[in-house]
Amino acid sequence: MQAVVIENLKKNYGKIKAVKGISFNVKKGEIFGLIGPNGVGKTTVLRVLATIIKKSDGKAKIFGYEVGKDDEAIRKIISYLPEEAGAYKNMRGIDYLKFMSNFFQKSDVDKAIEIANLGERIYDKIESYSKGMTRRLLVARALMAMPKLAILDEPTSGLDVVNANEIRNIIKEYAAMGTTFLISSHNMLEVEYLCHRIALMNNGIIVEEGEPEKLMEKYDAKNIEEVFLKVIK
Ligand SMILES: Nc1ncnc2c1ncn2[C@@H]1O[C@H](COP(=O)(O)OP(=O)(O)O)[C@@H](O)[C@H]1O
Ligand SMILES: [Mg+2]
Repeated sequence: MQAVVIENLKKNYGKIKAVKGISFNVKKGEIFGLIGPNGVGKTTVLRVLATIIKKSDGKAKIFGYEVGKDDEAIRKIISYLPEEAGAYKNMRGIDYLKFMSNFFQKSDVDKAIEIANLGERIYDKIESYSKGMTRRLLVARALMAMPKLAILDEPTSGLDVVNANEIRNIIKEYAAMGTTFLISSHNMLEVEYLCHRIALMNNGIIVEEGEPEKLMEKYDAKNIEEVFLKVIK
């Protein structure tokens, strides 16, 4: 079964056509990347799928459930990490994870603590955490209920190479355990290490799609950044 099926999805904000009719599928167990520069519509697509905002047209299904109709069922099997997610600054990391676990039918706080990998700092207030530490805590929160689909918006954005690598390893670990991932990134250079398949987005449409290796071959490019530049030329 496909984890995500999207057909001719459109989203307008008033007169602004943010997503102009895109189609793609994500297979079960896959790490799929929606890749492109800022402002091309990545976050909009993810927010529609996460049932945060309503689509304007087209169809989207998540594990057979229809977005816009079966939203309650969808919310039970997905988790969504917003781009600019904040954590409750006054809480300690440990209390944040315990608090958030109350919202899930089933969740594993111990596993989340392990993923966050904050050591003794898990007992400190979140306001004292670095950006990388906060992001790890939030990713742990997003994965603690073992969602069937994790939708992560720019999970490594703004992180240094060590922290970004750690987040990528967490994603790979969970994918190996069966979670399907749909992530967005404007960092085209990291996706070849992480994503099984990617869709390149520009101006509200998908301009190319496939396995990173094959795309580089097809465009005779050294990396995905070069692929993208050749595609939009
Ligand atoms: N709430 C909103 N109201 C109006 N326009 C928006 C809103 N959110 C996003 N947009 C516009 O939609 C387009 C796509 O934005 P977004 O989905 O955030 O792109 P990305 O995640 O690729 O940076 C941009 O032109 C942006 O300005
Ligand atoms: Mg975005």
